[in-house]
Amino acid sequence: MTDSGPIVTIFGAAGFVGRAVVRHFARAGWRVRAGTRRPQQAGFLRTLGDLGQVVPVTADVRLPSTLLPVVQDAQAVVNLAGILSPAGQQTFEAVHVEGAANAAGAAAAGGATHFIHVSAIGADPSARSRYARTKGLAEHRAQERFAGATVLRSSIVFGPEDQFFNRFAAVMRIAPAMPVPGGGLVHLQPVYVDDVAAAVFRAAATHDAVGHMYELGGPRTRSLMDILRWTREQVNRRCLLVPVPMALLWPQALLMECLPSPPLTRDQLRLLMTDNVVSGDVGTLSDLDIEPTAYEGIAPAYLERFRPGGAAPG
Ligand SMILES: NC(=O)c1ccc[n+]([C@@H]2O[C@H](COP(=O)([O-])OP(=O)(O)OC[C@H]3O[C@@H](n4cnc5c(N)ncnc54)[C@H](OP(=O)(O)O)[C@@H]3O)[C@@H](O)[C@H]2O)c1
Repeated sequence: MTDSGPIVTIFGAAGFVGRAVVRHFARAGWRVRAGTRRPQQAGFLRTLGDLGQVVPVTADVRLPSTLLPVVQDAQAVVNLAGILSPAGQQTFEAVHVEGAANAAGAAAAGGATHFIHVSAIGADPSARSRYARTKGLAEHRAQERFAGATVLRSSIVFGPEDQFFNRFAAVMRIAPAMPVPGGGLVHLQPVYVDDVAAAVFRAAATHDAVGHMYELGGPRTRSLMDILRWTREQVNRRCLLVPVPMALLWPQALLMECLPSPPLTRDQLRLLMTDNVVSGDVGTLSDLDIEPTAYEGIAPAYLERFRPGGAAPG
């Protein structure tokens, strides 16, 4: 690692949001310890900064012994570790709840001045969805273990490597029809990955956000059906969008849960029953001096490859 510049330790650095966050800190001259469970497979993280600026380190938020060594002398610690569906020991409780407590505890023990916990809009200890419930419990545990923790609740995140527009477009590319859960009435507020990264950076580099919570959303809310229609137009496909009642998708989701990385789970269906938009009760991107970026200006460039004759694989 280079020997000047403040240090940030990031848990979940190799993920979609993590890579953008690493890039942001590196550009600002910070030294980045990029936490992942498999640093040997995360050599690409080094290329997100100058020589020696980004160093992949072993960090499993379920195992506090792996966290303490990598937070020493870090000014800021960021927790992005999260899962969408449980697998083996990677349960929602272990990764989200205990993981957040362990990450915050390590940050406090290591003497960090800033701890930023990335959560999700809808996080609520009494939510029906396990994802949302454990995200809610995690926020409390992080705040208990690190006085002055900043909580950033994000809406659905989009960007060139997202699992949102890219996933829809990939289906539209090959399928004649696509089921739309609950008729696509739920409202979302997709937020740009670089805006989320900028918010994390702002929270870590200033004192403005210490002890506060923010909800990060894009400039506009849209129904899922509107988003799907817009995506279909971008990829110039005829895929039929078929409204399907949630109850009919339940058995399919149950079956898919047997797969190693299920494309749909019952818990995700539960998430789709509630709007995922900024509530207005806490700070937003604007309070962090970040103007939210609309997907209409960004996503067309990376969706182009799904058009007829485009370069999307498979
Ligand atoms: N993407 C969205 O639309 C969205 C929306 C709202 C909130 N969020 C939240 O934002 C965070 C990042 O999401 P993402 O989209 O970047 O997800 P992602 O691409 O799946 O990345 C999640 C990261 O979590 C790490 N992780 C999982 N279990 C871990 C463990 N036991 N210890 C340490 N790290 C662990 C993984 O790291 P390794 O496999 O490298 O160890 C992975 O890099 C998550 O907390 C997520 O809930 C995301």
